[in-house]
Amino acid sequence: MRRHLTAPCEILAVVKADAYGHGAVAVAQRLLRLGVPRFGVATIQEGATLRDAGIQAPILVMGALLPNQLPDVIAHTLTPVVHDSATADALADLARSRPEPYPIHIKVDTGMGRLGLAPEAVLPLLQSPCCKGPLRVEGLMTHLADADGGDPGYTEAQIARFRTVVAQADAAGLSIPLLHTANSAAILCHPSSHFNLVRPGIMLYGYQSALRGQAAPDLHPVLTLSTTIVQINRLTSGESVGYNRAYRASRPSRIAILPIGYADGYNRALSSRGHVLLKGRQAPVVGRVCMDMTLVDVTDIPDAGPGDEAVLIGRQGTARITADDMAQWLGTIPYEVLCAIGPRVARVYR
Ligand SMILES: Cc1ncc(COP(=O)(O)O)c(C=O)c1O
Repeated sequence: MRRHLTAPCEILAVVKADAYGHGAVAVAQRLLRLGVPRFGVATIQEGATLRDAGIQAPILVMGALLPNQLPDVIAHTLTPVVHDSATADALADLARSRPEPYPIHIKVDTGMGRLGLAPEAVLPLLQSPCCKGPLRVEGLMTHLADADGGDPGYTEAQIARFRTVVAQADAAGLSIPLLHTANSAAILCHPSSHFNLVRPGIMLYGYQSALRGQAAPDLHPVLTLSTTIVQINRLTSGESVGYNRAYRASRPSRIAILPIGYADGYNRALSSRGHVLLKGRQAPVVGRVCMDMTLVDVTDIPDAGPGDEAVLIGRQGTARITADDMAQWLGTIPYEVLCAIGPRVARVYR
């Protein structure tokens, strides 16, 4: 990623949603060792988890904050993203007794249509008393709606609106240290979005949505989701397996039982649709994915047996299933596949 950025651009690693399912504490610790100085989360609880693990780096809480949550932001020394002036006022009241101004980032909505101040509301907030004493505006940010879309025009227009707000602040003598707009797709496709800080998420985990067939930079999925066959059942032709008897064998069959199910994030919509790797070959999921178990037809992989590793996402030999593949089977995006991997699944770091 650093090869894509021109110095002095810094990285704020987005580790929300438990680092997209990878385990936020371990991922943040590893990224700290690689020199990544800042993290972004969605909720106070996610920030508190990192603090409880001893992570002292700045942590930006990018999601919505309700008034009654603001004391917790300060208690965990998290940096809030302020999306409206009422939140800035409430934070200023809480921060007034502190010896140092409390850092905040302000979000401007340049076209996402979600959280953030309208561009024309930013300068008045920057010039308001709350930003001149109790609070210190450390960052100004926006979020891009279509950085991975086919037409760069909308993104460039958002960036232009952001630049206008920055220019207004500069003209008023208010220099904001950190300016950031870029998610992974913008890092790859819109160098003009980099400013002096970027906010990659999915790219950290080895995926991207922007390049559509063009050569990606050296991105490799970092996560393998695997389990172990616990039992093999033999079916005669016509026998059924699983809930609602959704699968009936059309030939004498061997069915492998995997101890992973939708409660672990292996989506029930993969019933009769997903595949797993066994002995380096793809085997189809048959019948309904259950809460804790999944059934796979291994009739054509006769040497598969109890104790064998089954790979749901990852490589086995030369075969490979990615979160992109699984997303296609499900009609979704790899983000959702990765974030869904539940807390019951043990994370092992190599
Ligand atoms: C505000 C914000 N910035 C950055 C990101 C990272 O996006 P990506 O995972 O596409 O890099 C997200 C993720 O949704 C986000 O909400």
